[in-house]
Amino acid sequence: MKNNIYIETYGCQMNFADSEIVTSLLSREGYSLVRDINTADYILINTCAIRDNAEQRIRKRLRELRALQRSRQWVKIGILGCMAERLKDQLMAEEDNVSFIVGPDAYRNLPAMLKRIQNGERLAETLLSESETYDDIDPIRYDTNGITAYISIMRGCQNYCAYCVVPYTRGRERSRNAQSIVREAADLFDKGYREVTLLGQNVNSYRWKDADTGAEVGFPQLMEMVAKVNPLLRVRFATSHPKDLSDELLRVMASYPNICRCIHLPVQSGSARMLKLMNRHYTPEWYLDRIDAIRRYIPDCSITTDVIAGFCGETEEDHQATLEMFRRVRYDYAYMFKFSMRPNTYAEKHLQDDVPDEVKTRRLEEIIALQGQIALENNQREVGKVFEVLVEGVSHRSEQQLFGRNSQNKVIVFDRGDIKPGQYVNVKVVRCTAATLIGEVAK
Ligand code: SAH
Ligand code: SF4
Ligand code: F3S
Repeated sequence: MKNNIYIETYGCQMNFADSEIVTSLLSREGYSLVRDINTADYILINTCAIRDNAEQRIRKRLRELRALQRSRQWVKIGILGCMAERLKDQLMAEEDNVSFIVGPDAYRNLPAMLKRIQNGERLAETLLSESETYDDIDPIRYDTNGITAYISIMRGCQNYCAYCVVPYTRGRERSRNAQSIVREAADLFDKGYREVTLLGQNVNSYRWKDADTGAEVGFPQLMEMVAKVNPLLRVRFATSHPKDLSDELLRVMASYPNICRCIHLPVQSGSARMLKLMNRHYTPEWYLDRIDAIRRYIPDCSITTDVIAGFCGETEEDHQATLEMFRRVRYDYAYMFKFSMRPNTYAEKHLQDDVPDEVKTRRLEEIIALQGQIALENNQREVGKVFEVLVEGVSHRSEQQLFGRNSQNKVIVFDRGDIKPGQYVNVKVVRCTAATLIGEVAK
């Protein structure tokens, strides 16, 4: 029986978490995961559709895989994830070397599909679900350092930001059983993991009702439940939508030292007009009020963001407002993107992609340059401070050095000594770059 599967993952952390679920679903049916693509019988590509270039990359990868299929003609290729959901039959028609297409809510069908495609059938399963959370599936963490792990706590999104495909590729928002989340965190801790990141497109709207007790669990309560698993287990989360970042959550964060001092709060734009067009449901004033609240409850919290340059109708003034927002907040890190018009979104149906590409590029470069400067200055202020670091592994630059992160999620590199990955160690920062703190173990 041909049963070697190889899986390649693109896109966000949620896709990586899904690949671990897919691996689990297939292993219990007798398939084995291989790490060398040249030994695979099935190649699964878990895809992202967020920007056009994400999809172009997959198209290119499919062309490259044709060569491999020429020498191993029985190899079947499948497309999973957001691009599978978005393009469905179109992908099947355009990519004749693809045998199966599976959307994010249909992974339970995979074992049956792999059997059926053996006789030459080509199949697509892309039904979205209102209830699937895979909460009974134990993810197989095949690409792990054994120290940090993701836990999916919800799926889908229904915020319908005007530019975004996610509500169409991942369906309605639904929360996973809180007990199963806590169980997964406890199990990871027992296996030696020391950090979990709770994942969802908008974790603040997590809501789950306990069928036995009738108790409602919101995100702050869930954070508390996971933080209580063990004080040595760090807890992070991503992503929170500014419109519903509550004081209650900030209070919970402040009272548990093992909840990490880092909030990813995507701003997208600093212009009130753009935010309205983007359907973000907050104003720059509201956003800055949330930043103030974070600083009030958790003074040492780092703040990171996502931003889009060149959304529909963005003027020079709107762009300046974004730069101003960056100067006001002084983010520790930012994911910065050039707007990419996506089919079927509100923007595509009702707005014009009217900012010329070279203007988008120039604005993006200005944001990147400013952010680089701010990140460096923020890091310079950390020099001399001592942080508790969870050691993750050997530094990429030198065998003699280890790296880890502080609670603020900043990477710190330091001399190895006799310290091992998985340990907590106090490190004093002695130097920095815009991306990394360099330290020495504190006496
Ligand atoms: N749920 C998360 C974001 C998921 S997508 C949130 O709401 O914050 C990650 C980021 O990709 C978004 O925050 C946005 O900055 C960017 N993005 C989404 N759609 C985009 C598009 N059409 N063009 C450019 N960037 C986009
Ligand atoms: Fe996309 Fe907005 Fe949902 Fe984030 S909140 S996934 S940007 S629609
Ligand atoms: Fe991409 Fe889907 Fe994530 S579109 S960013 S993989 S939710």
